[in-house]
Amino acid sequence: MPKHDVIVIGAGPGGYVAAIRAAQLGLDVASVEKEDALGGTCVRVGCIPSKALLESSHRYQEAREGFAGHGVNIGEVSLDLGAMMARKDKVVKSNTDGVAYLYKKNKVTRYRGLAEITAPGKVTIHASGHGAAGDQTVEAHHIVIATGSSVATLRGVEPDGDRIGTSTEALAYPEVPEHLVVIGAGYIGLELGSVWQRLGSRVTVLEYLDRILPGMDAELARDALGIFKKQGLQFHLGAKVTGARVEGAEVVVEVEGKDPFRCDRLLLATGRRPNTDGLGLENVGVALDERGRVVVDEQFRTSVKGIYAIGDVIRGPMLAHKAEEEGVAVAEILATGHGHVHYDAVPGIVYTEPEIATVGKTEEELAQAGVAYAKGVFPYQANGRARALGATDGKVKVLADAKTDRILGVHIIGARAGDLIAEAVAAISFGASSVDLARTIHAHPTLSEILKEAALAVDKRAIHI
Ligand code: NAI
Repeated sequence: MPKHDVIVIGAGPGGYVAAIRAAQLGLDVASVEKEDALGGTCVRVGCIPSKALLESSHRYQEAREGFAGHGVNIGEVSLDLGAMMARKDKVVKSNTDGVAYLYKKNKVTRYRGLAEITAPGKVTIHASGHGAAGDQTVEAHHIVIATGSSVATLRGVEPDGDRIGTSTEALAYPEVPEHLVVIGAGYIGLELGSVWQRLGSRVTVLEYLDRILPGMDAELARDALGIFKKQGLQFHLGAKVTGARVEGAEVVVEVEGKDPFRCDRLLLATGRRPNTDGLGLENVGVALDERGRVVVDEQFRTSVKGIYAIGDVIRGPMLAHKAEEEGVAVAEILATGHGHVHYDAVPGIVYTEPEIATVGKTEEELAQAGVAYAKGVFPYQANGRARALGATDGKVKVLADAKTDRILGVHIIGARAGDLIAEAVAAISFGASSVDLARTIHAHPTLSEILKEAALAVDKRAIHI
């Protein structure tokens, strides 16, 4: 029976990074993945293909509506959806192939199939995928569960893999839907809703709460709602979906207290749930919490010795980069006894246009915790580069401790917010104050000056406003 130091179950951003880091540290590592392609949801049917389509749809829309204002006339613009999808598939393949290359380079042993933990230190791999061998049992000193999450279902809304679908289907609709209804105004609903709206669909978003983007800074979420409405997305807040059914080529969506909505495609985007089914956790007694997540301590140890868990399957935000950091930390803990993730500095980014990016505490969280804070805000409108780009919608908000000036949160809505937030993440990671940011030289003319000015505004001394 093959024996390794570590078996990592799942080869998404958490699992493949854990495997590579453990191998770098000299451990004999095996990785089990049920899909033929490595990279998990993020690479195959999540982050990467959605960003490819966000980019393509943005360019299409720019070509149609944005170029003339720059004095660039290109005549009639048409959409080749097949070519757009083929490009997306190519981008995905280069990423999944990239992970396979990294496995080879780092000598990670790869098993294809469904992993079931049969006893502490023992994993049976049930055959799956192309050319898979029969069941096989493998031993390891340590097991790391990194099985990720899948779409949470909603009572009365049964995805049929076609008209009623999830993000997976919405990344590959065969035609531009005339009317797309999205349930849930979170990350997925807004990103994929934006893609299809830009490509020509009428998009209606039904959100249960009285706001969009729950958990994000409320002021930014309100700004975002205004901008998305201007772009043509339609929102119904406080809309409780009670059911959906296919009638011919139409989907009928029932909402409490409202007339039913009719559309040609329905996208269910109301969150995700941890993947623990079929893993054999009950065979060994790994404890789950009330939301079905694997319970871990700060060292990622589950309730069973030698079994660890990271990523979407444990507590915390379901974000690829959070899983990756946990993958590095768990590998370092296994190899050296030490590893750490800075949970106060996990950024979150919604890749709409404009992007929304956030790190640290929101105003609501600070108020609720009774922390006195100072706030500095600076608008894109007052930045020269933003004007040159024609991207004047948005603002940066810096929140700092009123007594110590330590930066507690940074929230950005505006062009390239997802890249700008990296500086704020570094600042929070290093315990910087708003003065540290304000005194850092930022190249002119760049959007990064908006962050500097917002830091200056904490002390009411922004220059360019
Ligand atoms: P989400 O948690 O971001 O948003 C779900 C939304 O659905 C919420 O606004 C919620 O209030 C609403 N909702 C829940 N039940 C509802 C109902 N019955 N009727 C109407 N609305 C309802 O979940 P989402 O967008 O599905 O994303 C899943 C996960 O994937 C998230 O944890 C997110 O972090 C991750 N993700 C991250 C991305 C990124 O980093 N850019 C992109 C896509 C997904």
